[in-house]
Amino acid sequence: AEALRVALAGLGTVGGGVIRLLDANAELITRRAGRRIEVVAVSARDRTKDRGIDLSRFDWVDDPVALARHADADVVVELVGGSDGPALALARAALGAGKSFVTANKAMIAHHGLELAQAAEASQRALKFEAAVAGGVPVIKGLREGAAANEIGRVYGILNGTCNFILSKMEAEGRDFAEILAEAQALGYAEADPTFDIDGIDAAHKLSILASIAFGTQPAFGDLKASGIRHILAADIAEAATLGYRVRLLGIADAGAHGLFQRVHAHLVPLGHPLAHVTGSTNAVVAEGNFVGRLLFQGPGAGDGPTASAVVADLIDIARGEYGPPYAMPAAALAAQPAADSGER
Ligand code: NDP
Ligand code: HSE
Repeated sequence: AEALRVALAGLGTVGGGVIRLLDANAELITRRAGRRIEVVAVSARDRTKDRGIDLSRFDWVDDPVALARHADADVVVELVGGSDGPALALARAALGAGKSFVTANKAMIAHHGLELAQAAEASQRALKFEAAVAGGVPVIKGLREGAAANEIGRVYGILNGTCNFILSKMEAEGRDFAEILAEAQALGYAEADPTFDIDGIDAAHKLSILASIAFGTQPAFGDLKASGIRHILAADIAEAATLGYRVRLLGIADAGAHGLFQRVHAHLVPLGHPLAHVTGSTNAVVAEGNFVGRLLFQGPGAGDGPTASAVVADLIDIARGEYGPPYAMPAAALAAQPAADSGER
């Protein structure tokens, strides 16, 4: 079979990880996908930067939108970031040119997911974003496919690796917030603008995607209230521990009697709950289905390896011809559903 040809925009933490993973596991990926997955063209801001990767084998395209229309590419992967700007222009151009599209960009999917799903379905191409929620943990696939037959009552969890890394280190080492944030940035966990992490916005992006998939509601990031962990001191964490709690930043979406509710804020989690024991950059998502019961998805939520693993899994799906609607139902049906409300009660 012919190779699946990929144009890749963004060669930072995740983009670099994708190239390294495709190189390292090339043989097994070919066996599992049924054909080779081959990067043909790449784009980033700085052509001269040393990325520790041999880029001479790829066609370098300066303009990401031109990359999205690359004549040799079947699928475009966007790992640039940002809810609008070049990422959105690239997504629209790729889907408009009849290419499939893979992204790790939760900000863009939270704001424009429905529009992009409609474009993908209109051109009968794939739109996939497994890496956008919980890094390497296959939670979108798990909810969209594994729990497809269930009515989900509630989905909640630890959705930001940077915050969980900071909170667990503050607890274990009694260290300063800013110093630990710098460490999370050096490890490639944080967003380009880390205020998205520490103010709960990144978790809110992810929660709005999960809620839409879990409840079949329109994605509605605008209605979601979020706060972060800026105000939390090591002393607060120590005080909570004496009362039998750990502090965790949680996103919660609940299809309750009063309508849908989605919120992100720091919570006191009792030591008896599994989420109290999730440490470091690990993410964990709990979903309660009416037939399956309580599901727990847990694993590495940030960083190059885990995130690249989810991006390449999406490429393998596309190589196998697994397209399907990007959300849990066709975009036209999703657009007709109400959006989740803000949870003001
Ligand atoms: P990085 O900042 O490490 O990489 C971004 C890449 O995009 C760089 O190669 C940069 O080029 C390129 N870029 C930035 N602006 C432009 C532009 N205007 N035109 C062309 N290229 C541009 O980000 P990450 O790899 O960490 O994140 C990428 C995406 O993945 C984001 O959407 C992020 O939210 C998401 N994500 C990240 C995770 C992580 O753990 N890091 C986990 C899950 C999702 P150059 O290198 O030349 O500066
Ligand atoms: N900045 C994000 C986090 C990356 O810390 O969770 C993974 O989406």
